[in-house]
Amino acid sequence: MNILLLGSGGREHAMAHKIAGSPLCGKLFIAPGNAGTAAVGENVKLNPESFEAVASFVLTHRVEMVVVGPEAPLVAGIVDHFAETPALRNVLVVGPTREGAQLEGSKDFAKAFMARHGIPTARYRTFTAATLAEGERFLEGLKAPYVLKADGLAAGKGVLIENDLATAKAHLKEMLGGMFGRASDSVVVEEYLDGIELSVFVLTDGVHYLLLPEAKDYKRIGEGDRGLNTGGMGSVSPVPFADKAFMKKVEDRIVKPTVRGLREEKIGYRGFLFLGLMNCGGDPYVIEYNVRMGDPETESVFPRIKSDVVELLEHTCRGTLNECRLEVDPRTAACVMMVAKGYPESYRKGDAIDLGQDAEGVQVFHCGTRLDEEGRLLTNGGRVVCATALAPSLPEALLKSYNRTHSIRWDGRYLRLDIGQDLLKLMQEGE
Ligand code: AMP
Ligand code: GLY
Repeated sequence: MNILLLGSGGREHAMAHKIAGSPLCGKLFIAPGNAGTAAVGENVKLNPESFEAVASFVLTHRVEMVVVGPEAPLVAGIVDHFAETPALRNVLVVGPTREGAQLEGSKDFAKAFMARHGIPTARYRTFTAATLAEGERFLEGLKAPYVLKADGLAAGKGVLIENDLATAKAHLKEMLGGMFGRASDSVVVEEYLDGIELSVFVLTDGVHYLLLPEAKDYKRIGEGDRGLNTGGMGSVSPVPFADKAFMKKVEDRIVKPTVRGLREEKIGYRGFLFLGLMNCGGDPYVIEYNVRMGDPETESVFPRIKSDVVELLEHTCRGTLNECRLEVDPRTAACVMMVAKGYPESYRKGDAIDLGQDAEGVQVFHCGTRLDEEGRLLTNGGRVVCATALAPSLPEALLKSYNRTHSIRWDGRYLRLDIGQDLLKLMQEGE
């Protein structure tokens, strides 16, 4: 079948690579894609949020399945648009309905959903400009640090964590005054959870589900996880502390009640579900839901999936995921991200990239890249490329990934040198 993948990052390159490798895949189109996806399929100049343009492309190119990489088209209701348009009704679209996408699109919706279904998460309340005074009192009743979250999508920047009560109060007021535009018209104030984060991925058809490999990502720009938040500077899968006992708690306390809750509330959901979790002394708590795969988690999760992903996605869309088995590579995947100088603040685009030599067992995924008219590879984003190695152990996977990054060059490249080091330390302490 012909498949259209929406998105343009490393997540989409890693997905495109797997999809193109499936015998079930006919033509693969990626919109808008990057220089990496152009090598495994055909890039199409389409805005994923322009549903009319996507629909017309789907019809003229006989696309039978649309896979949505980022959250924005899902939150805007691309699944509903296809379901409600007679000519598009038979096209399979991987993702939740607009209502399901509210799990990511509205923090308040997600928290209320968790409260209704008894899913462990930080204690919270939601405030608006009209209830600012109550919000300040609620903050006074919490212990530092204070967590403030813009309700709506704020390009990954809508969460503030403050150590000091006065600053937290001032920021609550600023947020409600439009610090993140309409996204912070409502603000969730919640308890701080102390622990280690991990990302758990679920594929669900709304009734059945499969647990995909989990991963850990490295969010901040600086080593030791310091400095500004980024889209993610690397990832590792599996996560050593996510052992059988921990993952059973995740499944029983979070995955099952979430899928059951969606079904009970008749919220259509056929796609990926990303659980951002905190491991607090061995117990998992939900920090956030995302309604898509993570980036750069996909770059370490997808290389470990041995099953045919197109088959999995087809069963997801048809509601027959119970007929599928997931086969996972037991090896460790380590992904190291390389970014443009200045990222995540202002950075330059258009620098020529030398990708160096291929290495066995290492894949290079493109994130922000493009080809110019002469076919030269140029930087085209903050996160530029990443290297993912698969190896029998975490130290070996890290060594292979880092070795591969040495030969990838452009003017001003930057990478963190400590990806996975926290996990190695934990493993040593556990021995
Ligand atoms: P979010 O956008 O919800 O993923 O939040 C961004 C980051 O803020 C998360 O990845 C966590 O590192 C941190 N965070 C969010 N909520 C909490 C919380 N309740 N306690 C501790 N850290 C949090
Ligand atoms: N790496 C975190 C995210 O994709 O949101």
